Amino acid sequence: MVKGFWEKIQKPIFALAPMADVTDAAFRQIIAKYGKPDVMWTEFVSCDGLCSMGKDKLLKDLWYTEAERPIVAQFFGSKPENFYRCAKLAIELGFDGIDINMGCPDRSINNQMAGADLINNPELAKMIIRETKRGAGNLPVSIKTRVGYNKENLDEWLKNLLEEKPAAITIHARTKKELSLVPARWELVARAKEIAKGTGTLILGNGDVKYLRDAQNKISQTGADGAMLGRAVFGDPWLFSGFNREKALQKFTNSETSIFIDKKSTLTLSQRLKVMLEHAELFDELFAGIKNFALMRKHFGSYVGGFPGAKELRVKLMEAENSKQVGKIVRPLL
Ligand SMILES: Cc1cc2nc3c(=O)[nH]c(=O)nc-3n(C[C@H](O)[C@H](O)[C@H](O)COP(=O)(O)O)c2cc1C
Repeated sequence: MVKGFWEKIQKPIFALAPMADVTDAAFRQIIAKYGKPDVMWTEFVSCDGLCSMGKDKLLKDLWYTEAERPIVAQFFGSKPENFYRCAKLAIELGFDGIDINMGCPDRSINNQMAGADLINNPELAKMIIRETKRGAGNLPVSIKTRVGYNKENLDEWLKNLLEEKPAAITIHARTKKELSLVPARWELVARAKEIAKGTGTLILGNGDVKYLRDAQNKISQTGADGAMLGRAVFGDPWLFSGFNREKALQKFTNSETSIFIDKKSTLTLSQRLKVMLEHAELFDELFAGIKNFALMRKHFGSYVGGFPGAKELRVKLMEAENSKQVGKIVRPLL
C-alpha cells in the first residue's frame, strides 16, 4: 500500500473537507494562512471533463500553492480509464495524493454513475480504485464516501473498498438518501474503524463537526484516525488554528479546557472583516473573469454575523460585484 504523506502526519488528523465552489484556491490560501489543517482537498473535479477538450477550463479547480500542502486532488467519474489518466495528471501537477469521490448525492453526478452511485456498483468502484492506483505511482489514493445509498450498508461496502487497499477512507456518516438532513451517525465511524482494523487503511470521520474540540471528542469516542471538517469553516478560516496539539491533548483529559475555544468568537469584528476583504481580493486576483464573483456571497453571509448592523452590512455586500466594491463598503469599518 502506498501511504505517502499519510504516513507522516501526526494523528489525530484534522482535515479540511472538499466543498465545491467554497474551498477553492482562494479560500484554501486564506485557510492555510490563518488556520492550517493537517491536510486539504481540492474541490471535486470531473475525470471525464479533464479527459476532454474542456480540460483547460477545469484546471482552475486544481490550482493550489505550496502553503496548502499536503494537498489532495479529488476526482469524480465512473470511467476507470479516465481515473487512470487523471491520476497521471495529478502526478504531473505535483499533488500529494488523489481522492476518489464516492459520496456525492447530486442527481447530475449520480446519473453519470459517479459519486455516491458507486455504492450501488461495488465492482466498478473497485475497478476505479485499481486504475487510479495504477496511474498514481507513488501517490497515495484515498476515498471519500457515505455509509450507504438508500440504506446503511457500511459493513459490506467498506469491506469491498478495503479489498483494494486504499491509504485512507473518509466516512461521511450518512447515507446518500439522508443528504445532510439528519445528524451524522458517528457510531458508524467507530464501526468503520473496527472493520478496517489491521488493514493499514486510515479512517477519517466526517459530518456535523462544529469545532476542533468537537472533532477531538468524536475521534476519542470512535477511535478514528482523524476527522474532516466542512461547513464549520464557512466564515471561519481560523477554525483549525489557536491550538497547540500537544497541550490540547493533555488538557483534553481534564476537560475544563479553554484551549479549544471557537476562535471566531474571540476575534474582533475588524479582524474578521479585514480577512474577508483579503479573501475577496484574492478571489479577484485568481478568478476575475474566470469564476463568478457571486460565489463570494456565500462567504460574506458567513463572515458577517452576530453584531449590531450585521444584516445591513450583509445586504450591502450581496450587491458587490468585485473586491474593490467590497473594500469601499468595509474599509470605513476597519
Ligand atoms: C457546498 C458544499 C460543497 C461540497 N462539495 C463536495 C465536493 O466537491 N466533494 C466532496 O467529496 N464532498 C463535498 N461536499 C461534502 C463535504 O465534503 C462534507 O462531506 C459534508 O459537508 C459533511 O461535512 P460537514 O458536516 O463537516 O460539513 C460538499 C458540501 C458542501 C456543503
